[in-house]
Amino acid sequence: MLSPCLPQLRLLSCSIILILLFQAGDTKRDLKSACSTCQQITENFNKGYDRTAKQNFGGGNTAWEERKLSKYETSEIRLMEILEDLCDSSSFECNRMVEEHEEQFETWWFKKKTKHPDLHKWFCIDTIKVCCPKGTFGPDCNACIGGSERPCHGNGVCDGDGTRGGNGKCSCDHAYKGEFCLDCIDGYFNEVRNDTFSLCTECDTSCKTCTGATNQDCDECKEGWEEDDQEACVDVNECAKEPSPCKEDQYCLNAEGSYSCNGCDEACTGCTGGGPDECQACAEGYQDVEGTCTDIDECSQSDPACVKENQECVNSKGSFICICSSGYEEKDGECVQQSDEKEESEASETTPGPHREL
Ligand SMILES: *[C@@H]1O[C@H](CO)[C@@H](O)[C@H](O)[C@H]1NC(C)=O
Repeated sequence: MLSPCLPQLRLLSCSIILILLFQAGDTKRDLKSACSTCQQITENFNKGYDRTAKQNFGGGNTAWEERKLSKYETSEIRLMEILEDLCDSSSFECNRMVEEHEEQFETWWFKKKTKHPDLHKWFCIDTIKVCCPKGTFGPDCNACIGGSERPCHGNGVCDGDGTRGGNGKCSCDHAYKGEFCLDCIDGYFNEVRNDTFSLCTECDTSCKTCTGATNQDCDECKEGWEEDDQEACVDVNECAKEPSPCKEDQYCLNAEGSYSCNGCDEACTGCTGGGPDECQACAEGYQDVEGTCTDIDECSQSDPACVKENQECVNSKGSFICICSSGYEEKDGECVQQSDEKEESEASETTPGPHREL
């Protein structure tokens, strides 16, 4: 028996098999896109039909003009004018479809138009069979799940709806789930429900699942809420828990269903809120002044903070630094007269800065 992949023909025949396999895989998508191409074509046909209705009409109303017009209405010239404008020149699919079925457009134009005025139905559905009636799908135009009247019971989109492709299954809208899009997702409940109709409404924010709209209708509380003695879901105050869920240099802020930890003011060691007046204790370098932790000015204490000769004290938040006075620089931990003969305009810091000439 001949193998399809004979050595001399291997490359060619195997490539063809591969291409065929790929095409088979693409067919489902192709069938959907063929229908939307066809849909576009018939829409453009209808637009072209309206556009050409106003052409070749000079505005006069002589008998001759009227005869000429009525002749044009059903003429091949008008058909050609419409066909010319059906596709963008860049749309390969569209141009190919029109070219391939030009004869069918002529047949419809001259013989079928009166009896079958809906071109989409006659051409896309019944003649070239790339589309199906609304609510149906696939090669045989079977009804979508939930029926062709209200596919997916009005709560979703049927795969391949209106095309010869797809599998008729539902992609449910938000809030709905299940094969038939009649069930509600967690956080929603069935406000109305029978075999063919379902309306899902959002639960109270405190519920994970529920049977009604209030916080007393929860089946299960959402995380951050808990059942109270009336079986309603209420916010958990995480901040009241012992130990506090926040770190030592943070304070806790409760919120509906959650909480947050925020940093204390730098003047505090531990706090109950964000300001320097909400400290549990003052941080080093700060002291309590009428309930607010305030920076200690170490430089104006009776005990001098900077004790070396020719040293100045500079206060900072929570601390202070000692720098050499103007004209002095730091050397081996002492402030000595600047060796440089040139004068300095500013005091140099503990680490000498760049010299500036005057
Ligand atoms: C289901 O409910 C809808 C909306 O309330 C109603 O229109 C429909 O007739 C009901 N169908 C059945 C079978 O009860």
